[in-house]
Amino acid sequence: MDEVETESEYNSESEVIKYIQSESEGEIQSESESENMIDEEYNLLLEKISNFNVLKIEEHDLENNKHHIEWKNKIDQYQVQWYSYIEKYCPNFKGYVWRLSDSWYPIININTELPIRYLEIGTLCGANLISVCKHFTHPDSRFECVDPWEDHDDYNEYKYLQSSNFENFLYNIKESKEENRIIYYKNYSHSVVPKLDDESYDLIYVDGNHESFAVLEDGVNSFRKLKPGGWLIFDDYYFSDSTKLGIDSFLYCYSFKIMNKIIEYGQCFIQKSF
Ligand SMILES: C[S@@+](CC[C@H](N)C(=O)[O-])C[C@H]1O[C@@H](n2cnc3c(N)ncnc32)[C@H](O)[C@@H]1O
Repeated sequence: MDEVETESEYNSESEVIKYIQSESEGEIQSESESENMIDEEYNLLLEKISNFNVLKIEEHDLENNKHHIEWKNKIDQYQVQWYSYIEKYCPNFKGYVWRLSDSWYPIININTELPIRYLEIGTLCGANLISVCKHFTHPDSRFECVDPWEDHDDYNEYKYLQSSNFENFLYNIKESKEENRIIYYKNYSHSVVPKLDDESYDLIYVDGNHESFAVLEDGVNSFRKLKPGGWLIFDDYYFSDSTKLGIDSFLYCYSFKIMNKIIEYGQCFIQKSF
């Protein structure tokens, strides 16, 4: 058993074979018996793996489709409200409004009378960020946000629009009169987030690059920054298979550190265990 010390080491087919081979060492068997056993176990394992994958894909597609339709209907109902709400929070708001944080507060239980520390990954023109500022009115609350506001190979939404998005963001935070409570980092989340203080944020919103690897990385990096009992929200759970895969991978790996998980309006709400 010296060859295979940890489970994570046998992650390719040849290593699985190596594991089975080393398991059978020590038993008195003829070469052909042991070869048969290896073949049988190996085939069984392959069967299990392929059944698992097929099942997962089918369940995932059905579930994804059903929730996607429900989510789209809810979003359509909310969209009209969100445009009118942003006018309420920032009268001359310029640029994109996707959705606002108003739908969060029946779900997350954070006291608005105390100062909070908030982090938003992916800020665009600041619509959601401003709505969060308007909810947590304590003067000592701090709202930090990260966005490179530039085109890059991993993310091509808003191509050629990033500099006007950034201008709009600066204009909007000034117009909202929240400029003094907002700290922005014009950079990529993978460069900024690891440098922030551990276990110090009450609420973190992940809405940057929506590709699976980036969503997973943002989840992992920001979870460490969250206070025990704090909330992490992923946007766009049903946006694409890739986004959902990133969020699901995070959920699988961190389930033992999560005390609450709610999926509502296409967003995934996670409360970190104490
Ligand atoms: C869907 S928009 C964010 C919407 C915003 N949260 C709102 O509610 O208005 C996605 C943003 O993520 C930014 N982004 C893309 N890759 C990023 C990265 N690696 N780190 C941080 N932000 C990123 C984009 O520039 C874009 O502004």
